[in-house]
Amino acid sequence: MKKTGNKLSDVQEVYSGFEGALWELIMGEQIHVGGYASSKALGDSAGWKENEEVLDLCSAVGGGVRFLARVYGVKAYGVDATPHMVNRSIQRIEADGFSDRIEIKLGDATDIPYPAEKFDGVWGEDTWCYVEDKEKLIQEAARVLRPGGKIAFTDWIVGPAGMREEDSARICNTMKFPYMLDQKEYEELLQRNGFEIIESADLTDTMAEHIENYLGQLAGQRHFDAMQILDWNYDVFNFLGAEFGFMLEKAKAGEFGRGRLVAVKK
Ligand SMILES: C[S@@+](CC[C@H](N)C(=O)[O-])C[C@H]1O[C@@H](n2cnc3c(N)ncnc32)[C@H](O)[C@@H]1O
Repeated sequence: MKKTGNKLSDVQEVYSGFEGALWELIMGEQIHVGGYASSKALGDSAGWKENEEVLDLCSAVGGGVRFLARVYGVKAYGVDATPHMVNRSIQRIEADGFSDRIEIKLGDATDIPYPAEKFDGVWGEDTWCYVEDKEKLIQEAARVLRPGGKIAFTDWIVGPAGMREEDSARICNTMKFPYMLDQKEYEELLQRNGFEIIESADLTDTMAEHIENYLGQLAGQRHFDAMQILDWNYDVFNFLGAEFGFMLEKAKAGEFGRGRLVAVKK
C-alpha cells in the first residue's frame, strides 16, 4: 500500500490537540477499540506472568501500562513520542499509585530508548497504524525482547475483503495514519523478523459495532462535551461524522478492521 505522507509530527499534533481529546472522550483512558475486554483478550493470549517486564509501545495516557500492572502484576514500561501524552500519563500513574511499578519515557517506537533483550513482552493497542516505518518498529521490538519473549498487539488494518488505494488513503488521511497493513502483511513482517506466531485473529467483524457506538456518543450522550472540545465548530464535527460514516461503511463491507497478533521471539 502507498504511504499517504502523514508523519510523526502530524500524529504528535493530533495527540497534543483536539483530536486526541476527542478520541479519549469516546474511548476512555484506554484509547483503543473494545477497551478493557480487548486488552484482557490480548493479555490472556500473551499469558503475562507476575513481575515480568512488559513494554507498551505508544503508551498514550498510560491506560495500557496501568491495565498491565493492575491485572497481571507485571512491571510495565511505556514509550510515547508526544510530550503532552507522556506528561499526562506520568501524572495519572502517580495518582493511581503505580509509580513504583511503571516507568514512562519520551521516545520513538522505531528507536526504542531501552537496551537489547531487556523485556519479557512488548505490547501495543490500536496504535502502530500511526508508525511510519513498521519494519523498523518490529525490528526494534525484536531487539528489546529476550529470546522467548512475546510481542502482543492489536491494530487497525485493511480487512479481509481488501480495500481500494483511494479508500484506504481517505481513512489514513482522516486518522493521520501513514498507511495500514493487512493481517497477512503483519504476519509476514513478524516472521521475517524472527517471530513465531502464536495467535493471529481477525477482529474485523466487530469493528462496525464499535464505530456505531462512537458515532452515537458524538451525536447523543456526549455531544455537548464533544462540541466543547471542538470549540463548537460544526464544520469539523460534520466532517468527522461523515468520515466515521465512511469508515463504518468500509467496516461493514469487511474492508476496514482490526487484528490481534501474538508472537514469540525465537
Ligand atoms: C491511539 S493512541 C495509543 C493508545 C494506547 N495504545 C491505549 O490503548 O491507550 C496513539 C499514541 O501513539 C503515539 N505514537 C504515535 N506514533 C508514535 C511513535 N512513532 N513512537 C512513539 N509513540 C507514537 C502518540 O503520541 C499517541 O499517544
